[in-house]
Amino acid sequence: MNAGSPSIVRVEAGHACYDVTIGADCLAGLGSVLRTTAPTAIRAHLVIDAGVPESLVNRVRSAFSESGLIGNESRLTPSEPIKSTPTWQRLLLDIAEASLERSDVIIALGGGIVGDLAGFAAASYRRGIPIIQCPTTLLAMVDASVGGKTGFNIETSHGLLKNMVGAFHQPAAVLADVDALASLDERVFRAGLAECVKHAMLSADYGDPDLADWMARSTTNILARNPATLTELVTRNVAVKAAVVRTDERERSSGDQGRALLNLGHTFAHAIETIDSLSPTNDPNLAPLMHGEAVSLGLIASATLAEQLGRASGMVEPLRNRLVKFGLPTAVRGLPESGEILARMAHDKKADTGRSRFVIPIGDGSSRVVLDPPVQAVVAAIESIRA
Ligand code: GLY
Repeated sequence: MNAGSPSIVRVEAGHACYDVTIGADCLAGLGSVLRTTAPTAIRAHLVIDAGVPESLVNRVRSAFSESGLIGNESRLTPSEPIKSTPTWQRLLLDIAEASLERSDVIIALGGGIVGDLAGFAAASYRRGIPIIQCPTTLLAMVDASVGGKTGFNIETSHGLLKNMVGAFHQPAAVLADVDALASLDERVFRAGLAECVKHAMLSADYGDPDLADWMARSTTNILARNPATLTELVTRNVAVKAAVVRTDERERSSGDQGRALLNLGHTFAHAIETIDSLSPTNDPNLAPLMHGEAVSLGLIASATLAEQLGRASGMVEPLRNRLVKFGLPTAVRGLPESGEILARMAHDKKADTGRSRFVIPIGDGSSRVVLDPPVQAVVAAIESIRA
């Protein structure tokens, strides 16, 4: 794949159909994407992640002037606590102050937190206006920006409930400019690789049986952030996600496949990522875990669960090696006792009509949903990530 030529993945989700454009400097094409996807827009509201380099922000501003759009901006400093009702309200006020109409457009430039919040502001403002997602982290490129999930967390007496408020609101377009990955913090970049490993654990059933092997062969180039390799990495991951979403946009499948598969590792991850004391290494200064780091641990727990249930064998060690090569954690110190983790899982929104729902790998590139596995198997899975 040539770093100079962007690639395009078409996403078909319910009634929506849009392109994800991936490549170096593909934000240069935003002006033309705006003219195609929001031809009658007069205003655009840019929601900027404060961590994004000014050079990228200026590419978006240039697209506004090129398209004759009146641009306004909101800036967010992303952290899990800002993924909350007050930030959503603030965004809505900013957008209303900027007088956006239904035919106007929101642009999200940043990581998953900014994309999710801007996405829900777009879903809820005037009952829904278009959004163009311009993800700037690997995690947002391969996962959060594609598929239309938007929203934020709420704090309840059961603790923090992640993504409990939200809507499916498909973007009008996604532009994943891999130039944004060049300056990304190393830890943030590696955290995104956990979602790529996750996709490779289900990709054989969704059109890309070679993804895990290709990622293993390309480890050096991936970690060196070679633009052509990153373009291929993001393209293949988005293609897998798009194939899953096409079958089950709203995660309604009652079978053992469908969009729920994208939660592989996440039932465990959601239970541990809000434990503030956990660190990906022994260094308490690195606590808490990033989402991708918690997913990495969750993938190990899921593979252990698959082995406990007799659905897979010999899966945990190769997976552990793959994650370690990407600098991701596979065990963690200071994990609370398993009863507390089980209690946290019980409150996760993926506890489906009172049943616990896990996704387990059952073979290379193939995963399945299981309901209500025996509690001893889940406890063994939890213990497998205790350092
Ligand atoms: N990140 C999981 C999904 O989009 O369904």
